[in-house]
Amino acid sequence: EPAQPRASRQRFVASLSVCLFNFVVQHLPTGEELAVKEDVRKLLERLIRTIEPDSRLLSFGSTANGFSLRNSDMDLCCLIDSEERLAPTDLVTMLGDLLERETKFQVKPLPHARIPIVKLSLDPSLALPHGIACDIGFENRLALENTRLLFCYAMIDPTRVRILVLFLKVWCKRRKINSPYEGTLSSYGYVLLVIYFLVHVKNPPVLPNLQQMPPMRPISHDDTHIGGYNTWFFDDIELLRQRWQSANTDSIGQLLIDFFKYFSRDFSYNTGVASIRAGLLKKESKGWQNDLDPARYKDARERNRFCIEDPFETGFNVARCVTREGLYAIRGEFMRASRILSTRPERAIYAIAQLCE
Ligand code: GTP
Ligand code: MG
Repeated sequence: EPAQPRASRQRFVASLSVCLFNFVVQHLPTGEELAVKEDVRKLLERLIRTIEPDSRLLSFGSTANGFSLRNSDMDLCCLIDSEERLAPTDLVTMLGDLLERETKFQVKPLPHARIPIVKLSLDPSLALPHGIACDIGFENRLALENTRLLFCYAMIDPTRVRILVLFLKVWCKRRKINSPYEGTLSSYGYVLLVIYFLVHVKNPPVLPNLQQMPPMRPISHDDTHIGGYNTWFFDDIELLRQRWQSANTDSIGQLLIDFFKYFSRDFSYNTGVASIRAGLLKKESKGWQNDLDPARYKDARERNRFCIEDPFETGFNVARCVTREGLYAIRGEFMRASRILSTRPERAIYAIAQLCE
C-alpha cells in the first residue's frame, strides 16, 4: 500500500462509509415499486387458487431477504397445503395457460426444467418504467428458509450488513460478473460471500453464526429438517439484538476495503470452500476437488473452481456455474476494486464511481 498519512487515510475511510450509504440509498426500490409487486403477488395467488385452492404464493429471494435493489426481479414460490396435489409439471402447464388467458403478462411455462417454473414478464410502461420479471416455482421450501436466514442476518446489524451487500450487488452487476449463465456468480453467491466474511473472516466477527448457536428450547428433528437437510438456525432476532453485541466496530468503508482485500489475495480459491455454516472448509473434505473416479475428475474440477457451500443443502456448491474464465474475471474485479480503494484516497465519491464504472 502506498504510504499515506494516517489521518488522511482515516478521513478517506470515514467518507467512504458515508458515500456508500448515500450511494446505496439511491438504488433502493421505491415504496411504489414494492406496492405494485405486492399487488402482483396477490393477483397471482388469487389466480393460482382457482387451480389449487389450498395454495399460498410466497416471496423469496431479494424481495423477501432485505437485499432488494430497485427493479430487481420477483422470486415467488407456491406452496400447496393439501395432500393430493397436482404434479409440478402439470401445474406449470395449467398455470401457464391460465395466466396467458387472464393476465397481460408474457408467460413462459418451463414444465420440464430441472426445477419446473413459470416465467412471467411485463414490458415497461409509464407506471412501471422497467417492467416486471417474475419466476414462480413450486414447493421450494429450502429457498424460503435460506431467504429467512439471510433476512435474519440482515436484521442483526441492518446498517452495516445491508449497505455492504447492496453495494456489492450493484457493483457486481455493473462489472458484469453476476451471471451464472455466463460463468460468473449469482447474487445469492455474493450475499453468501459477504455473510461468510462477516461471520468467519472478520475478527472479532461482525455477525454471530446463527446456525451454530444453541437453541433456546429443545427442538424436534421434524421441526428442523426439510428433505433430509438440517435447516435449523437461531431466528429470534429480538432476543439476539438484546443479547448479542458485536465487538467489531469497523466502519462500512473499512469492511468493504477488507472484503475486497480478502477475496483478492487471502481466500484460497484452489483448495478452500466458503461456508457460512462452518467457516473455511477444504474442497477435499467435501469431495469437491479430487473425485476419485477419473472419468468424473475433470467434471468435478470444472464445476468446483470456486466453492461456496449452500447453508442448508451442504452438498451443493452455489458457485458451481463459475467457469475458469468466470473466476478469472471475478478475481480480477476483486483486485481492481482493492487497488482503487487503496490508491484513490482523495475523494471517496470518485472511488465509488470508478469502482462501479
Ligand atoms: P437479485 O435477483 O439479483 O436481486 O438477487 P436475489 O437475492 O433475488 O438472488 P438470486 O436471484 O440469485 O436468488 C434468489 C433466491 O433463490 C435466493 O435467495 C435463494 O433462496 C435461491 N437460490 C438462488 N440460487 C440458488 C442456488 O444456487 N442454490 C439454492 N439452494 N438456492 C438458490
Ligand atoms: Mg432474485
